Amino acid sequence: MKDLKIFHNQVCVCTATTNLICTKSRAEMRLNMTWNFAHRGFSGKYPENTMLAFEKAIEAGCDGIELDVQISKDGELVIIHDERLKRTTGNSGFVWEYTLKELKAMDASGKFGDTFGKNEIPTLREYFELVKDKEIITNVELKTGRNPYPGIEKRALSMIDEYGLRKRIWVSSFNHYSVVRFKELAPEIPCGLLEESWIVGMFEYAKSLGADFVHPTRYIVTEEFVHEAADQRIGINTWTVNEIEDIKRFMEWELHGIIGNYPDRALEVKKQIQV
Ligand code: G3P
Ligand code: CA
Repeated sequence: MKDLKIFHNQVCVCTATTNLICTKSRAEMRLNMTWNFAHRGFSGKYPENTMLAFEKAIEAGCDGIELDVQISKDGELVIIHDERLKRTTGNSGFVWEYTLKELKAMDASGKFGDTFGKNEIPTLREYFELVKDKEIITNVELKTGRNPYPGIEKRALSMIDEYGLRKRIWVSSFNHYSVVRFKELAPEIPCGLLEESWIVGMFEYAKSLGADFVHPTRYIVTEEFVHEAADQRIGINTWTVNEIEDIKRFMEWELHGIIGNYPDRALEVKKQIQV
């Protein structure tokens, strides 16, 4: 298992007690290692947040996978983006109104229809079974914007621990209370604040909450923003980065991570930049 990570613009060594100890700067190591995260798996070509999309993202050579976690009526951690089931499954109602068995009966192929057969809504457990022996970082987004899903942070952490994955997890949420709660439970797991607003003093705010990263929508990420983040020693993981020119720009700026629907494109750009 790799024991190097890039964090706060530093090359970091993982240890038993903390997974991030900074040693040398990225420049000193002459590395360009913007993490290539597959957004909802390889969602540009396969049904988002399905096992197929996760498997294909790994095949495509991503460094990490971003996924969205909610809770079923009977308390299971499930991976699905929208709170409403309509767009991806065609069913009415909300995720939390259905048991796991009922959710599993649905087809989450969404806009891909029958192209890839039936694709179930995966559980977080099924996903962890897939990645437990792989060098993949998982960005678990806690989807607690509409339903705060009380206790989701604890449940997610206990499943992370069951699989011994603390060193390969990043957590993010638009609900910053969720991030604070998670950080209290597991301070060593890197956490990011998802943001769509141009918040004044974003980095001071992130630091005040104990966050390690900001996860802004890509429109906010200007060169000035990147410099300010570096000064404040806050990492940036931005989304949704699909276009080659955006991927290239963000990699040249050495962002910590980009989260996009086409991990194959990001890998190609990364190879070109590293030549
Ligand atoms: O985590 C990055 C991105 O996924 C956040 O937005 O709406 O795609 O979950 P959304
Ligand atoms: Ca997400």
